[in-house]
Amino acid sequence: MAFFMNPGAMFLGCLGTSEQKFLVKLIETAAQSGYTRFVEPCAGTFAMANLAVQNGFKPEQIETSDVNMMSTVLGYAITGQSLEPLEIHAQGFEDSELLDPATALYAQLYLRTSKNAGNDYFYQMLTDLRLRRQDHIESINRQIEVVRNLLHGMSYRPLDMWEHLKEVLDDPHALVIANPPTYFSGYEKFYDTQGKMTWKEPEYQLFDPETGHQQFYDMCMGAKALVLCYQEKRVGEAVGYTIYARSGTRADLNAYITTNREEEATALANGKKIKRPSESKLEPLDCSMLPRDYEIKEDSKVQVIPIKAA
Ligand SMILES: C[S@@+](CC[C@H](N)C(=O)[O-])C[C@H]1O[C@@H](n2cnc3c(N)ncnc32)[C@H](O)[C@@H]1O
Repeated sequence: MAFFMNPGAMFLGCLGTSEQKFLVKLIETAAQSGYTRFVEPCAGTFAMANLAVQNGFKPEQIETSDVNMMSTVLGYAITGQSLEPLEIHAQGFEDSELLDPATALYAQLYLRTSKNAGNDYFYQMLTDLRLRRQDHIESINRQIEVVRNLLHGMSYRPLDMWEHLKEVLDDPHALVIANPPTYFSGYEKFYDTQGKMTWKEPEYQLFDPETGHQQFYDMCMGAKALVLCYQEKRVGEAVGYTIYARSGTRADLNAYITTNREEEATALANGKKIKRPSESKLEPLDCSMLPRDYEIKEDSKVQVIPIKAA
């Protein structure tokens, strides 16, 4: 059984293939338009970082974060950080074994499966995990290797999405793509080991899809960064400007990709490049040093433009 075989099963409410296809052009054009910072909070299995690195962003330009242990161990493995500061402990495992990312991920899978061992299906799964422990660890290792080869150079931190957003929203060169939980507390239940595995998890706010998207856009609507957010909502309930919709993802919910800047995001998705402001932020100049009747324009170069014929 492959650990990352089906991210959809691991991450409830993940972006489907058609949503990802839609984002490819947008990301590619954004990279060509001078966006130099790609941000994926709620990174899960790094689906957006994967898209970014395959469509014009360098791994060094990508920063990711999440709050669950699985993503954090994977993120640390990709970025080559030691797991020691995470203080991972797991019933039946030595602390020293858990410094190996594949073993830590195996332990998480094993212990969360064990909580359902009363059910025959999970019991069979648990037995297989126990009897073929080494095969499973090797298989997880191979999968880590694939992601590491692709994304090595990016950064990862265990961090609450709201904290990460605060850091980047003021950057006009940042493209943020967030895929926050579509179920309240879904991940916490999914990864629950009933206390058999613990780690130094960061403080974070549980994301409630009923209210969280409004909170998200209250924060992001006027941001300098271009922000996109995936949501699953009933008709008419998506928050932000909708640039993509697909009906019937589950029950009466539809998939939406929304943004804080409709025109720009739509243009990028259609392959139309957008001019970004210059890298350097201009300091207000002392006007007494300038000839009268001239103005300063903030562009790629400092220009002094006559506004009146001399
Ligand atoms: C739908 S998944 C993201 C999937 C990911 N983009 C992918 O496609 O692989 C949502 C993620 O949000 C994370 N999450 C939940 N609450 C969070 C919070 N307050 N801050 C940051 N991440 C959070 C969960 O741990 C989960 O990995």
